[in-house]
Amino acid sequence: MSEQVGRIHTIGIIGGTGKEGQGLAYRWLKAGYRVLIGSRQLEKAQAAAVELRSLAGEGAEVSGVTNPDAATQAEVVVLTVPYAAHRPTLEGLKDCLGGKILVDVTVPLVPPKVTRVQMPPAGSAAQEALEIVGEGVQVVSAFQNISYEKLLNDEDIECDVLVCGTSKTARSVVLELVRAAGMVGFDAGPIENSVVVEGLTSILIGINKQFGVQSSGVMITGIPRDPTF
Ligand SMILES: NC(=O)c1ccc[n+]([C@@H]2O[C@H](COP(=O)([O-])OP(=O)(O)OC[C@H]3O[C@@H](n4cnc5c(N)ncnc54)[C@H](OP(=O)(O)O)[C@@H]3O)[C@@H](O)[C@H]2O)c1
Repeated sequence: MSEQVGRIHTIGIIGGTGKEGQGLAYRWLKAGYRVLIGSRQLEKAQAAAVELRSLAGEGAEVSGVTNPDAATQAEVVVLTVPYAAHRPTLEGLKDCLGGKILVDVTVPLVPPKVTRVQMPPAGSAAQEALEIVGEGVQVVSAFQNISYEKLLNDEDIECDVLVCGTSKTARSVVLELVRAAGMVGFDAGPIENSVVVEGLTSILIGINKQFGVQSSGVMITGIPRDPTF
């Protein structure tokens, strides 16, 4: 498997018309990346791209494309679809993903009990993604604890990003994207650890309900809070 290194220029977001995808796209556009918004419908993707350009500024390099085009043309592919669409979406795109980094943002929520951790048989959504796309794709999981409300503005985000994945090199590439999006990220180890991070989201949804808020988060303490390290 070739390991992808160097600066990433083009990020493709599968399901980028949705809440989390648009939030991440906004942050990366502000940081100067080229972003491809993917959708099942080209027109919907193009409309989302127009809206994002108006939010991020006229210089923002954003285009709306189909999901397969986003996966084919991007160096890093970010998956932001509901869990129910996770497997079929990946099965439809796996031939476009060879040699790339796939960033899985999916939380395997099973409505109506979304405050209960319910992992799939593979162990987590990220491990399920790896089973589907195969070892030729570097699967990294990230951003599952970051609510979209925090992303679609320029405020500081009081929630860290725990990054798990199939190789240290791929995790470091994604940690750079975390920093670019204005968050503090930590290398949280191998893909098997993603179960913890994905499960935390159900706990945070429960805390949101208890406190009547939209976006509680988690921060790592006991280390220097220097976003550049
Ligand atoms: N929302 C959050 O704050 C948040 C936070 C952390 C993690 N996440 C995770 O991020 C993922 C996306 O969340 P979201 O809130 O952005 O979801 P969403 O807005 O409901 O959906 C995202 C996009 O997924 C596509 N989609 C919906 N149903 C589909 C289907 N049956 N098949 C294929 N594509 C489908 C749609 O794009 P098109 O119709 O354009 O194809 C839609 O715009 C979820 O797994 C969620 O757990 C969300």
